[in-house]
Amino acid sequence: MSIEVAVIPAAGRGTRMRPATRVVPKALLTVIDRPAIQYAVEEAARAGAREAIVVVDLDAGHLVAQHFSLEGPLPGLEGVRVRPVVQEEALGLGHAVFEAREMVANRPFFCLLADNLVRPGHDVLPALAAGSDHGRTSVVCLRPLDDDMLSRYGVVATASDVEEGYVELSGAVEKPGPEKAPSRFGLVGRYLFTPEIFEHLEKAEPGVGGEIQLTDAIDALGRAGRLRGWVAPVDMLDTGTPEGLLQATIVLGRHRFGDTIDDVR
Ligand code: G1P
Repeated sequence: MSIEVAVIPAAGRGTRMRPATRVVPKALLTVIDRPAIQYAVEEAARAGAREAIVVVDLDAGHLVAQHFSLEGPLPGLEGVRVRPVVQEEALGLGHAVFEAREMVANRPFFCLLADNLVRPGHDVLPALAAGSDHGRTSVVCLRPLDDDMLSRYGVVATASDVEEGYVELSGAVEKPGPEKAPSRFGLVGRYLFTPEIFEHLEKAEPGVGGEIQLTDAIDALGRAGRLRGWVAPVDMLDTGTPEGLLQATIVLGRHRFGDTIDDVR
C-alpha cells in the first residue's frame, strides 16, 4: 500500500537560528535556492505522497502557505496538494501533529520534521513504508547517537535485536540524556504513523519543557506493542542550528554543483 499523505510540522520559531528567524519562519530559511520545508515536501513526493499537510503558526503561517501556492504549483510538485493547517497556540510538536488529524482522516501518514533533511540518494521513507505491514504498524526512523546528542533527541527503548535494519520497540523518552537513555537509538525526524497516534496525542499531558511531546505518544505506541524502528545507514542533515545549516548547504550544494564549487576555502 502506498502512503498518500504527509504531515510536515512547520510552526517552530527557530530559537537556535536567531537572528535569522526574528521575522522569517524557520521552515522558510533557505538552503541553496529553496526553503528547508520544500526539501521535505519534495522528499514526501518522491515516496509517493500526493498530499502534504503543513502545520503552520498564526504569525508567519501565511508565508509558508504562499510559498507553495503563489504563481501556481512549484516545478516538480505539480501532482502534490499542499494544505496548510494553523496551530493557533505553540503547545509543542505533538500538538502540532494533532492539528492535522482531521485532514489526515484515518489514513496512515508520513511525518517529516523539516529541521532534518536527508542526504542526496539516502531517502528513508520507502524503508519506513516497507516495514509498516501495509500501513498497519507505525515505523520510526532511528540513528545511533553519541552521548552528547542524547539530551537533544527523543530516544527509543528496543524490544528485539536489529534485523535487516528493523527493530521492535517498546517505548521512547524525549531528550533523556545519557544517564536515562533506554538505548542509543535516537528519533531523527522521519516517522510513519498509523492514525492510532492521534488517540495517544489526544490524551497526552504536557511533558518535557511543558509541551505536548510527539515522543510521549510514540512511547504509548511502543508500550502497546505497536511500534517498530528502522535504523538509517547514514546521518541526516540538521538545518536547525547555524553549523548544521552550513553543513546542509555544503553537502547539498556539492551534490548539486559538483566540482564547480571545489574552490571553496
Ligand atoms: C524534535 C523531537 C525529538 C526528535 C528531534 C529530531 O526535537 O521532539 O524527539 O529527536 O526533533 O530532530 P526538537 O529538535 O524540536 O527539539
